[in-house]
Amino acid sequence: MHKFIGYSARFGSFSANCGNGCKTGEKVLTSREIFAREAKYGAHNYAPLPVALTKGEGIYVWDVEGKRYIDCIAAYSAVNQGHCHPKLVKLMREECGKLTLTSRAFYNDYLGEYAEFITKMFKYDKVLPMNTGVEACETAVKLARRWAYDKKGVKKNEARVIFARNNFWGRSIAAVSASSDSQAYEGYGPFLPGFQQISYNDLRALEKEVEKPNTAAFMVEPIQGEAGVIVPTDGYLKAVQEICRNKNVLVIFDEVQSGLGRTGKMLAHYHEKNVRPDIVVLGKALSGGMYPVSAVLCDDEIMLNIKPGQHGSTYGGNPLGCKLAKAALEILVDEKLCENSAKMGNVLKKRLERLPTKIVKEVRGRGLFLAIVIDQNVCKAWDVCLKLKENGLLTKNTHGDTIRFTPPLVINQTQINEVGDIVEKTIKGFL
Ligand SMILES: Cc1ncc(COP(=O)(O)O)c(C=O)c1O
Repeated sequence: MHKFIGYSARFGSFSANCGNGCKTGEKVLTSREIFAREAKYGAHNYAPLPVALTKGEGIYVWDVEGKRYIDCIAAYSAVNQGHCHPKLVKLMREECGKLTLTSRAFYNDYLGEYAEFITKMFKYDKVLPMNTGVEACETAVKLARRWAYDKKGVKKNEARVIFARNNFWGRSIAAVSASSDSQAYEGYGPFLPGFQQISYNDLRALEKEVEKPNTAAFMVEPIQGEAGVIVPTDGYLKAVQEICRNKNVLVIFDEVQSGLGRTGKMLAHYHEKNVRPDIVVLGKALSGGMYPVSAVLCDDEIMLNIKPGQHGSTYGGNPLGCKLAKAALEILVDEKLCENSAKMGNVLKKRLERLPTKIVKEVRGRGLFLAIVIDQNVCKAWDVCLKLKENGLLTKNTHGDTIRFTPPLVINQTQINEVGDIVEKTIKGFL
């Protein structure tokens, strides 16, 4: 509960209306006061929708004035299991009083159990635990370069890694060096050498690039998330694998956003048969929104080229994170969230496809990884998001004209109908 007594003078009166059941008379900030304070003291590296949330449960979130919304962003797919999943909350409460962090200076009694669980689940020899998605993607790039030098015989410091244009894997210097989005990279140079971009879903371009000497890997999202839920042609991933294998180039799938049930299967590349990337990167929903946990999975041939002291992270592999990750994965399986994502995704996609084409130019996606493209000559996607908010649904546009619908995977039939109703009413309001 917010008790910002020290701010009373600065913000004048406080609202007594609280979405989280606080007693009347307690000093809580209104949404507008929260926006103002954050703008005053926080960096301006985001432009959030004007809503200040205080509570979440399942598919719902509440703002500080007590208004309830359906969350159709799900923390960019980090809360696939739903907000504050009771099993994860219970585990967090119990475990954080026992042992949270040892660093990797010592063993902890849980990392091994988690490592065995996750490697068996995804059928790889080894896991390297990290925290955020960007760290795990960078780890994958380091593993690829290392393998290229140690196993493929690439000349020292000459390894090349190929990326698909419009990729998004975070904000580090390495990630923005691989980015084609000027908003992400402009003003942050010099950039890392050895990174090459090709068009997404372009096999010819990949064939050309892998021909070049010193090529270590191709890193790609099975469905591009931040680019606006771009689904490649059926068979693309299999063909990528074949092209890369023929030239002894590693395939890295960044499943940080597309993975863990989002598309209706545990991993997005499972939609294609006989595809097994050399390296898989997971994050976000790996801890169900509790705590940053990410992971890189691959076989010994690649993983064991990194030796003690050559890579790591203070928090990576901490016992609390490992326990959360195992529980978060178990929830996806036990509650059949992949199946639910496929089913509810079909229902919602059909509803989205019936929206007026005068405004909605395109509907894309798979499972509950869905997006619509707004004709910005008719209305602005940002304005649609504001109206959706007013009507009780939260989402945010990406790349200007694209609006994602990626609710937590626990959404049921009644709730998905409600999403469809709100979107329909909102869009029709712009006609
Ligand atoms: C595909 C993909 N990879 C990596 C990342 C980076 O994850 P994080 O923000 O946890 O560093 C993101 C974040 O949106 C992503 O969508």
